[in-house]
Amino acid sequence: MKRHLHCGSRRSLVAVLALAVLANLGLSAAQAATPAELLAVYEAQAKAPGSPERGQKLFTQNFGRELGFSCSSCHGAEPVKNGRDQVTEKLIRPLAPAANPQRFTDKTKVDTWFRLNCTDVVGRDCKPGEKADVMSWLLTLKP
Ligand code: HEC
Repeated sequence: MKRHLHCGSRRSLVAVLALAVLANLGLSAAQAATPAELLAVYEAQAKAPGSPERGQKLFTQNFGRELGFSCSSCHGAEPVKNGRDQVTEKLIRPLAPAANPQRFTDKTKVDTWFRLNCTDVVGRDCKPGEKADVMSWLLTLKP
């Protein structure tokens, strides 16, 4: 009986540990990603491949909002280089993953910044297809 208990508690400890590992994996899989995986998610949502041409156009376009900004106002027209925030005047590291490997590796962060910046520049959040366009263009850029 004693032996059986010991065995059982060990087994449940293993099960708890395994669950914890799985939960962790599940969490990080939901958040962390490579830029290619993230692009695939947006393309799947849009049911269409991203277009680098459309992405560049969106990025440099002035949508006639009060601030008068395009994405490139702050990120630069060549986002393999540093940009500068036109409001806070803070330096912005390059947006293109080839120049900055930290970019597009956290979906929650990426969606948050798309929402904030698209709302300012376009007047609404960007759609998955527009995110795919911008990302597919950024992924063509080499430092
Ligand atoms: C007023 C300045 C400004 C404008 C305009 C702007 N951004 Fe940004 N953007 C920022 C800042 C500041 C950050 C956060 C700091 C950082 O990540 O370097 C950021 C971060 C991002 C990120 C986060 C990427 C990552 O993985 O780290 C994306 C995506 C992005 N911007 C896309 C856009 C797009 C698309 C537009 C145009 C619709 C745009 N931004 C316009 C200032 C701006």
